[in-house]
Amino acid sequence: MKPRSTAILISGTGSNMTALLEAMGEGFPARPVLVLSDNAEAPGLARARAAGVSAVTVAHSTGKTRADHEARIQAVLDNAGADLVCLAGFMRLLSPGFVARWQGRMLNIHPSLLPLHPGLDTHARVLAAGDEESGCTVHEVTAELDAGPVLGQARVPVLPDDSPQTLAARVLAMEHILYPAVLERFARGDKTPVFLP
Ligand code: GRF
Repeated sequence: MKPRSTAILISGTGSNMTALLEAMGEGFPARPVLVLSDNAEAPGLARARAAGVSAVTVAHSTGKTRADHEARIQAVLDNAGADLVCLAGFMRLLSPGFVARWQGRMLNIHPSLLPLHPGLDTHARVLAAGDEESGCTVHEVTAELDAGPVLGQARVPVLPDDSPQTLAARVLAMEHILYPAVLERFARGDKTPVFLP
């Protein structure tokens, strides 16, 4: 089977991107064709280039619409021949039209056990809610924020003295295991969710 041509969209550090790139070696059913960031300062861009993957910035231009930004993103994805998109810390909301174009071919990772705690400030909200566990979720992207079909989840305990930062670090370590595992299954055409540990 030919590996699926995969683009990874980032806004920041790109540690999930790095985990995906490291997994996408010989025999993996997806190969990276592009890393795209909306933020020229994203440290992940240099990391991608160091891994030999072409990395571009498509910034949102001041005074322009979201439609303009998404059209430029779409053009870059088309030009790279992308067939799958992995959102990995991409911090922009995507319009229903853009999402529809990638229906069934776009994944996202979110640092909570969805449907719990969609949106931002996840770890602080987990702590405020007194949850005894948290984790991360990889899901298909649909028009509704953090709400598409779940493709995998990994759980971690919440410890009594956790801060948002310590909890985030524990969850992030699991994100780096979960996302490649889900992508491997998904790229083979299998949408059975992966549950870790
Ligand atoms: C991760 O926690 C991811 O779940 C969230 O943003 C963070 C991105 O981290 N959506 P990184 O850029 O992959 O290091």
